[in-house]
Parts: sequence; structure tokens; C-alpha cells
Amino acid sequence: MAKIKLTTKVDSEVLVVGLAVSNKKLQIESGSASLDSTAFLSTLNAIGATAKPDEVIKLPGKTSKLVIFTGLGEVKSSYEPEVLRRAAGAAARNLSGNKSATFSLPHKSVVELAAIAEGSALGCYTFVEFLGSSKQEKKAPLEMISLISKFSDTAQAKAAVKRAEIIVEQTFLVRDLINTPPSHLTPDSFSQKMKKLATKYGVKSEIFNDSTLKKSGYGGIIGVGQGSANPPRLLHVSYSPAKAKKRYAFVGKGITFDTGGLALKPAAGMEAMKSDMSGAAAVIAAVFAIAQLKLPVAIDGWAPLAENMVSDTATRPSDVITIYGGKTVEVLNPDAEGRLVLADALIKAAEVGKKAGGLDGIIDVATLTGAQVVALGTRTSAVMTNNEEFSNQFLKAAQLAGEAFWPMPLPVELRASLDSPVADIANIGDRMGGMLVAGLFLKEFIDPQTPWLHLDIAGPAFNEKQPHGYTTVGGTGIGLRSLVQLVELSSSQG
Ligand code: BES
Ligand code: MN
Ligand code: ZN
Repeated sequence: MAKIKLTTKVDSEVLVVGLAVSNKKLQIESGSASLDSTAFLSTLNAIGATAKPDEVIKLPGKTSKLVIFTGLGEVKSSYEPEVLRRAAGAAARNLSGNKSATFSLPHKSVVELAAIAEGSALGCYTFVEFLGSSKQEKKAPLEMISLISKFSDTAQAKAAVKRAEIIVEQTFLVRDLINTPPSHLTPDSFSQKMKKLATKYGVKSEIFNDSTLKKSGYGGIIGVGQGSANPPRLLHVSYSPAKAKKRYAFVGKGITFDTGGLALKPAAGMEAMKSDMSGAAAVIAAVFAIAQLKLPVAIDGWAPLAENMVSDTATRPSDVITIYGGKTVEVLNPDAEGRLVLADALIKAAEVGKKAGGLDGIIDVATLTGAQVVALGTRTSAVMTNNEEFSNQFLKAAQLAGEAFWPMPLPVELRASLDSPVADIANIGDRMGGMLVAGLFLKEFIDPQTPWLHLDIAGPAFNEKQPHGYTTVGGTGIGLRSLVQLVELSSSQG
């Protein structure tokens, strides 16, 4: 992970500045660094620069060996933090092979500076763990990021850099977990790795193994995991600061691979299902980040982990399972497995939260439905809720964090489609509105008194296309920043 430092002058051979446009006229936005704008502008015009987001142009400089122009779009008196975050990220991604770079992007506040810090460092991600002979050829990302800022001496700027480093460290953990192939990430290895990290961050952890889960009646996790040679787990991490102002539970879907089970998915695209544990990775890393930031809010993170496989021991369509706490589910489609493992974990999270004095909110995060991707595409996630106020607060946090979330309804009339003739509920209902039906299924396992959010991140969790902004190919880390921001907002509200 790149180190971030604050400075007031260009201290490396590479300088990154912004490029914006107004009425087709290019404008260099170099913050407080001075630059020979006239000469650069004529070159930029000559080569047809557009200043669009994700446009990154490298030119040789005089005082700096290399000047990088990163697109900011339209000229603004102050730029949206997310515009800066992406522009910084796009530049950083294009600087692999260089050791260090100085970023001088326009900003009028520490919030904007923080976005530049985050974006630039988030762009410096690579996943080389499984490279063998081709590892040498791969250019390493930037190691050192210098940020030119007039706020560089302030305590706020220093705190913002420290926070950015924590956010980036934990986002990289999420990306690493998602990118790790299921040959190397099983429910057990996921939980063992997280247990080690929990110790490092001073967070408590416990792992429920398959025999404990079976004995205690976690029929969802057991049912989904029973077709796999890699037995399921339930991971619980817990951060409990003294004088916590609030207590939340985060629950993340942790399917280390989703074949669809006996409702086998088509071969084309199945490889992306190694990302089906993105929710689990996001919630556990969010707990670590919140602990590192020492926020005065208690958080329980829950990751129900299983591998959804095809075998003679796999759940059959029509099997009935019993969720922790007693509700029965007719498994009509073993590919609708996420909701089954989440159901167990949601009930358990509420039980443990109640014992600790009650939950102020419960949030699940899941790559739950293909319908989410159909509805909102690959860059916007969905929020469903039983509490408008909680949802609005989350949407505000997501906006600040620069993560796209959009509210979706839970229409009561769709609930009847989940009725089962043999069990309390079926695991699938109407195909139309499938994202909402999945949300309605989960709602059955939520205490109506507890504010609840269901985040469906099926599309945005995994970038199968081109890199953009600070988003690299593969696991993105979506969800983590919004969760941390939500906790920060709610802790500052007392
Ligand atoms: N993990 C998938 C959802 C998914 C799809 C995530 C595409 C990321 C990208 C989930 O377990 C699933 O298979 N859902 C089914 C539900 C259906 C059987 C009701 C789906 O969406 O097709
Ligand atoms: Mn599935
Ligand atoms: Zn799944």
C-alpha cells in the first residue's frame, strides 16, 4: 500500500495536476503548484485533450521529469470530492512503474483533500499473489504519494491522511479477499485469516464451525454448505469500545463460491461467482477500520460463510430447512442461497445485539441478486429498509463516501409470492422484481422494531470490465466506505 504524505512543494520527479474544460477551453488546475501553463496548454490542445474523467495524459516537464494531467471534467470553482477522488485514482493507476509522485490537485477544504488522498492511494492496487513467471514483468504501483496542500500543517489534514490510509488498507483487504480464488479461499481459511487480523486490530473474534452450527440449528448455513467438501463457518468479530454511543450489527453474505448448487449456473460468467463473499469481506473489514479509527460505536460483524456446490449431499429443490430460531424454508431454488445463510446470521446478530443492550441498527451487505444488476447496472448498489430515516442517513453517508447507492422499495404485495405450501416461506418468489423479493425474504428475519438496511451490491462488488477512476479490475471494495462513514456520522450526532 502506498504511503501518503503532506507537503507544500513538488518533491518527486512526477507531478500530477488536474485538467478541466469550460466552453471547449482547457484549463490546468494545479492547486498551489505553479506550472508553465501556456506551454502545456498549447501541447494539450494540439494533442486533442478533452479533460474528461479518466483521461490521463503524460507530458515531459521542465522542473518535473513528467507532468500528468488527469481529467476533472467541467471547470468548477470547487470540485466534488468524488470527482477529485476519481481523478486522483485514474492518475495513480497510470503511474505504476514509478516509485513516487506528487499530486497537486485543486481543493478548497480538508474534505476535498481527503478525497484526493483516498483516491490516489486506492488507485495503487495490484493483485499479484498468484502470478508466477509473469510477476517480474508486472509494474509495481506507486509506493509514495505526496500531496501538495495549503492545509498540510493542520491537524485536520494530518487526521484526514491517517483516515485515508486506514480506509485504503481495509479496502485492499476487501479486494484481496474477493480476488483470491475459491481454491485458496474457503469458509475456514476466510475465517482463520480474519481471526488473525482481528487480533492485530484489537477486535474480538469467534468462529462457529460446522459441527457447532449443526448442533445449534443454523439450518441455512448448513443447508447451503452441505454440498461442499469445504465445510461452512459463521465468523463473528466484535468491536466494543468503552462508552459506546451506539451499537450496530453488520451482516455480510459470505459465499466463497456460488455454482448455483443443483440449480447449476451456466459456465459463461460463473468465474465471477468467486466474488459472492464480497458482502462478508466488506463488513469484516469495516469493523477493522472502525476499530482502527477508534470510533465510539460498538459494532458486531457477522459473516456466514459457505460454498454453494453441486454434489450428492447438496440441498435438493423442495428440501425444507430450519433457520436458526425455528422458521422453516422450502428451498425451491438452491441458487437463491445468499438469503438462507443471511437469515441464520441476521437472527443470531439480533439475539447477540439484544443481550448487549439492543441494536440501534442492523445492516446486511450482499451480492444477492442478478436482478440488482439488471435494475441498477454495475456501478449503483441498492438500499432497502424498514426505516426511512435510517436509510436516508445511510444514503447521506454513501454520498459523502463517494459510493453510489439508490433506494429501492419493498412492496408488500410481492410478499405473497414467497408463500410455500409446505414451509413457513419459500426461498424464491416472483422473478419480476427479484431484488425486492429477496429483500422481502430477508425482512422476515428482522425484528420490525430494529432499523434495518439491506444493501444489494451484486453488480458493483466486482469489476469485470475496464478499470476506471480509483476502481481497479476485480473486487472493488464497495460498501466499506459507506459503512465507516455512516458510523462516523452517527457517532458525531451523539
Ligand atoms: N450470487 C448470486 C447473485 C449474483 C448475480 C451476484 C450476479 C453477482 C452477480 C445469487 O446467489 C443468485 O444466484 N441469485 C439468483 C436468485 C434467483 C434464483 C431467485 C439470481 O439472481 O438469479
Ligand atoms: Mn446463487
Ligand atoms: Zn450467491
